[in-house]
Amino acid sequence: MQPFLTDREKGFFIELNLITNFMSDRLFIFDTTLRDGEQVPGCQLSTVEKLEVARALESLGVDIIEAGFPISSPGDFNSVVEISKVVSEPIICALTRGLERDIDVANEALRYAKRKRIHTGIGTSDQHIRYKFNSNRDEILERAIAATKYAKRYVEDVEFYCEDAGRTDNEYLARVVEAVIKAGATVVNIPDTTGYCLPSEFGAKIKYLMEHVNGIENAILSVHCHNDLGMATANTIAAVMNGARQAEVTINGVGERAGNTALEEVVMALRCHKDIEIDTAINSQQIYNTSRIVSNLMNMPIQMNKAIVGRNAFSHSSGIHQDGVLKNISTYEIIDPKDVGIDNNSILLTARSGRAALRHRMQVLGFVVEDQKLDEIYQSFLALADKKKDISDDDIRLLMGIDRSKNRSIEIDYLEVKSGKDVDHEAKLGIKIHGELKEAIANGNGPVDASINALKSILGLKMTLKEFTIQSISKGSNDVGKVHMQVEYEGRVYFGFGANTDIVEASLEAYIDAVNKFI
Ligand code: KIV
Ligand code: ZN
Repeated sequence: MQPFLTDREKGFFIELNLITNFMSDRLFIFDTTLRDGEQVPGCQLSTVEKLEVARALESLGVDIIEAGFPISSPGDFNSVVEISKVVSEPIICALTRGLERDIDVANEALRYAKRKRIHTGIGTSDQHIRYKFNSNRDEILERAIAATKYAKRYVEDVEFYCEDAGRTDNEYLARVVEAVIKAGATVVNIPDTTGYCLPSEFGAKIKYLMEHVNGIENAILSVHCHNDLGMATANTIAAVMNGARQAEVTINGVGERAGNTALEEVVMALRCHKDIEIDTAINSQQIYNTSRIVSNLMNMPIQMNKAIVGRNAFSHSSGIHQDGVLKNISTYEIIDPKDVGIDNNSILLTARSGRAALRHRMQVLGFVVEDQKLDEIYQSFLALADKKKDISDDDIRLLMGIDRSKNRSIEIDYLEVKSGKDVDHEAKLGIKIHGELKEAIANGNGPVDASINALKSILGLKMTLKEFTIQSISKGSNDVGKVHMQVEYEGRVYFGFGANTDIVEASLEAYIDAVNKFI
């Protein structure tokens, strides 16, 4: 530790677990999957699902969980309250605009958090100052100071964000950063909100702040990069190499537009490049598990070639690569898949496995459930094991991801389809709407089309299917098919998900899941 800290300051930093800022080798991971990540249209989670993700993030070892934006909706407020109750290790953070009312509500939502942080801020680029606030630089500086001081009345740990810092003039940015640190900010966030910067430019911005802000040693510089030009991870690493000591990330890089910086990419880039001499406290063996939980709960399929967690991330198909890997794995692989929790030899369960075996496997995957939930999952497990011989870890994650507390007005009662080569595809469908059985028969150009036409004829609503993807979980023709759909109704798009060994049924489930969101 450096000698310029007073005893009070030392105690304060130890309390906030920020002391390692001065040791230069530790990067704090601030996960915003549940706030910025969750802003993706159609990927909203229920409070029960958010708790599931928060627990997974705690097992993964993130330092801070941004749990929501409490003033934005009662659902967000409630999620911050509930996450604060169950999560004990990471700091729980709530987002606000730089407004007193927002900060009051965030403080209220954080009341149960053992370690809490308020994240407040304001736009600092000329575009934001002029067009969003119709204001000027001096007034924005005053508002930034006032918001920081107001948040400081409630909590010691205040993070201030300079929205659109990526496009903010460096000299002015340094004035804002210096002022908010003086007002008590413990962390200052430099977001590249529009994903505009190049790595060299963003790294230079952080270097400029490290060199020109008086008092910079009293706070941590954080970076929050968006991926609009595909540079989010590169920009984050460039910033870390120039002095940033907190990275704001999401699992799988989920987030609005092209998404946020992916946690798994930053963590593994630092693990691979030991020469940077900066590491995180992430338990990398939980990366794959957490990635799958988030993908399942958010109904967001992971692209096949996604770095670190995509299905193809570790598969070598070219002959030359396969030959090299067989001779020595290091020829073409820079990461051992086991280091991110991919274990192709993990134990498979079958219909003969009992509750204890299922509970044990769930614990290994990081799920701790009460007896009643275990019973429910065990029933679904048996139904799936009936159709599919071996139940893999991914199947278990899928069963875990089903939120049984969700209100479903429509449920499939039965579905019979006639399909095959050169036959008229026909579907006979029975659904229950609030418990009342409704039936229809319809034709289509295939079994999925016929089933959806039967559903449409029962509901009598004008809906359009906008997106339709099918993925298998692992391998084999007896595998579970996961279907993601987007259905447009009255100008809005609703997302649906279904999973079944029968892909026609999975497709209908996905359509009904979307319909259940607006009916
Ligand atoms: O991208 C951004 O600027 C943000 C801030 C609210 C931190 O998400
Ligand atoms: Zn953002």
